[in-house]
Amino acid sequence: MMPVEASAFAGRVDHLFFLLIGISVVIIVLVVTLVFGFAVRYRSGSKAKRGPLPRWVKREVEIGWTAVTLFVALFLFWWASSAQVEEWTPPPNALEIHVVAKQWMWKTQHPDGVREINALHVPEGVPVKLVMTSQDVIHSFFVPALRVKQDVLPGRYTQLWFNADRVGKYHLFCAEYCGTDHSRMTGSVVVMTQGDYARWLAAQPQGDDLAAQGAKLFVSMGCSGCHSEGARVHAPSLAGIYGTLQPLSDGSFVRADEGYLRDSIMLPRRQVVAGYAPIMPSFEGIASEDQVVAVIAYLKAMPKGRNEAR
Ligand code: CUA
Repeated sequence: MMPVEASAFAGRVDHLFFLLIGISVVIIVLVVTLVFGFAVRYRSGSKAKRGPLPRWVKREVEIGWTAVTLFVALFLFWWASSAQVEEWTPPPNALEIHVVAKQWMWKTQHPDGVREINALHVPEGVPVKLVMTSQDVIHSFFVPALRVKQDVLPGRYTQLWFNADRVGKYHLFCAEYCGTDHSRMTGSVVVMTQGDYARWLAAQPQGDDLAAQGAKLFVSMGCSGCHSEGARVHAPSLAGIYGTLQPLSDGSFVRADEGYLRDSIMLPRRQVVAGYAPIMPSFEGIASEDQVVAVIAYLKAMPKGRNEAR
């Protein structure tokens, strides 16, 4: 009845699911029994006592069942939210894979540049973090066997992580209605032993890794014309920028994560770094999401430069 459990999250999600079903069944049985019991007991013409309730029923029973329901609800909330918070926080050493959704396919890209369509091969027992975005409308990345689901949004990065612990091939679905062929926007997640994964990766057509693709784009799209040592234009150097706090012209600070770097490329006027004129052109409609992903990988890999901006 249940899909196989192929990740550590799966057991927890299923326990929660069965607990919710169990509690619902207990409540339904209790309420239905009381409804029928009272309907029979107090039917028209019965001799059952109908006076006011005794005082202790009014006070203690009322307080008791309200408190019990409150604590059951709070316990469920704590359990579900702690599981959810864990699913939001990928471990720092996770293998990072990029996912770009479009009508109607999934494109995935491994750190060394290997690309897949409607498929994702991952090693068993290794935390995998997916950084996802969409080229058009909202999609949702859903792998029932791993018990993970996350919306994939245009113009934004969303994240998802899992640690698959069972070798096999599992369904990948799009779980957000996204147009005519939404129902065909499926694929598979293949969990392999670490040795098999390494062999599989080595057997794929080898292109440049993501950072190397990004380095080429950084030059070919003209980024290096301004963001490099000796450039005549006053633009910040980007070496070692990933993960740092950036002061903005409005006095606030922002962490330079993937989302910030993407916005800086596609919507540069939104957050202008303090001390610089808003002269960065927007690459919206010029650079594809795949290209932006590669440029960000390059920026992340860039060592701290000698001439830090400032
Ligand atoms: Cu993509 Cu539904």
